[in-house]
Amino acid sequence: MTYHNLKFEIRDNVALITLDRPKALNALSSDLMDELTAAIRACEADDAVGAVVITGSEKAFAAGADIGELKAHDFSRAYLEDLITRNWEEPARARKPVIAAVAGYALGGGCELAMMCDFIIAADNARFGQPEIRIGVVPGAGGSQRLTRFVGKSKAMEMCLTGRMMDADEAERAGLVSRVVPVAELVEEAVKTAQGIAELSRPAVLAAKELVNTAYETTLSEGIRAERRLFHAMFATEDKDEGMAAFLEKRKPKWKHR
Ligand code: CAA
Repeated sequence: MTYHNLKFEIRDNVALITLDRPKALNALSSDLMDELTAAIRACEADDAVGAVVITGSEKAFAAGADIGELKAHDFSRAYLEDLITRNWEEPARARKPVIAAVAGYALGGGCELAMMCDFIIAADNARFGQPEIRIGVVPGAGGSQRLTRFVGKSKAMEMCLTGRMMDADEAERAGLVSRVVPVAELVEEAVKTAQGIAELSRPAVLAAKELVNTAYETTLSEGIRAERRLFHAMFATEDKDEGMAAFLEKRKPKWKHR
C-alpha cells in the first residue's frame, strides 16, 4: 500500500508508523485514519513484526481530528458514515503491542489516539489535552472515558471542561504516560523498547497485553480468574519450557513463539 499521510518503515522486528501531515500538525483526517487502519492491519498480518510504534513530529503527535472535515458533517452524515468507529479504533483492536511515542501536541483525537495505544512514552515537550469543549463539542474518540481511567475524575473532568493542557511531567505524575524522555531521544527510545518486547515469546506478550486490558473491562475477581487461566495456559507452550530452562542454564532463551 502507498501511504500519503504517514510513513511506514520496518526496523528489525518493529514497525514504525510516523504520522505525516506536517502542515496541519498531523490533524487526523479520514484519509490518514484509513491509512493508519491499513498500516496496523499490515503489522498484525506480518509475522516478522512483533510490536508497533506510532509517532508524529517533534511539534505534534497529532492536534486532533481534522476540524475542517468535522465542520462539514451534520448528524446524518456522522451517523451514517459511522464517524470515528469506522476507521479510528484499530490501534485499540490490535493484538500486538502498540506504543505511542508522543512529542509536542497530543490534543483531542491526538490524545485519544495515544490512549488507544498500549502505553505512551512522552518527550519532555509533550502536551496532552481534550480541547473539544472550546470548539463546541465533546471528546469523540474515547477521551472522556480513557482519560478518566488513566488520570482519575478530577483531572479528566477539569481537562474536558476547560481544555487545559497537561505537560509531560504532569502527565507522568498522573499516570497518563509510562515515562518521559528528551525529545531528541524519543523515537529511538520507543523503538528500542518495542524491539525488546518483540524479541520476547509472542504468546506470552499477547497474553500479558490481553490481561492488562482485561483489568479495564471487568471486576477484580473476574480479572484474576482470567489471569490464572492464561497463566496456566502458558504451561502448554514450548516457550515456557525454553524460558525456564534457559534461566536455569544461565543462557539466552531461543523463542519458538509457540
Ligand atoms: N484540524 C485541522 N487543522 C488543524 C488542526 C486540526 N485539529 N490543528 C491545527 N491545524 C492546522 C491549523 O489550521 C493551521 O493551518 P494553516 O497554517 O493552514 O492555518 C496549522 O495546522 C498550524 O496550526 P496553528 O497555526 O493553529 O499552530 P499554533 O502553533 O498556533 O497552535 C495548536 C497549535 C494549539 C495545536 C492549535 O493548532 C490548535 O488549537 N489546534 C486545534 C486543537 C483542537 O481543537 N483539537 C481537537 C479537534 S476535535 C477532535 O479531536 C474530536 C475528537 O475527539 C475525535
